[in-house]
Amino acid sequence: MTVRIAPSILSADFAALGAAIAAAERGGADLIHVDVMDGHFVPNITIGPPVVQSIKRVATVPLDVHLMIEEPDRYLDAFADAGADMMSVHVEVLPHLHRTVHAIKARGVKAGVVLNPSTPVLMLDEIAADVDYVLVMSVNPGFGGQTFIPRSESKVRAVRALLDRAGNRDAPIEIDGGIDVHNVARVVAAGATMIVAGSAIFHTPDPERATRELKAAALAAAPIASR
Ligand code: DX5
Ligand code: ZN
Repeated sequence: MTVRIAPSILSADFAALGAAIAAAERGGADLIHVDVMDGHFVPNITIGPPVVQSIKRVATVPLDVHLMIEEPDRYLDAFADAGADMMSVHVEVLPHLHRTVHAIKARGVKAGVVLNPSTPVLMLDEIAADVDYVLVMSVNPGFGGQTFIPRSESKVRAVRALLDRAGNRDAPIEIDGGIDVHNVARVVAAGATMIVAGSAIFHTPDPERATRELKAAALAAAPIASR
């Protein structure tokens, strides 16, 4: 499974998103991670479908939309129409997760499910065969620039084992929160192959270079078969 870097524009200058995305893409970004927050599920408020639509016009790589919102079902059409290529929803807000996952897929969008740090892996037991990817939060969602929670590393291994047991060997694991050039090797070695990074890329003087360096560090840690 190839390792992919997904710069999170949450830490970019919102008045210059086009330039931020272009720099990340020059540095080798494989996806653009878009953090949608509603002020209810998480304390912060960020962006909605019109911004995703604008980003879609300038990005040349797929858009990975992370929905940190309550009642995500109400917005699946809007984000799919805006150009999301991948959409992830939090298991904590969805009593009918199976329905939501299949609703995302029915729109031709890759469906991911997300676990908060305190949410047990067993919450995925009945859905593991259906998902296109799993996102393991390695911070509590809501803000960029937080510290990586070390226990996330064993959680990635447990999610990998669960997906494999469910016969979903091709479903990648994404990790999000506090990832930088120093800890990326650990999470890749644990089995994460989609690497989100916000402040480690956009809170540097040279986001292009930061993307390139993070990708190199991630690839160096990946098993040869997955490079
Ligand atoms: C946090 C978001 C993350 C955030 C990561 O709620 O889901 O995607 O942008 O930012 P860093 O890499 O700074 O932890
Ligand atoms: Zn995110």
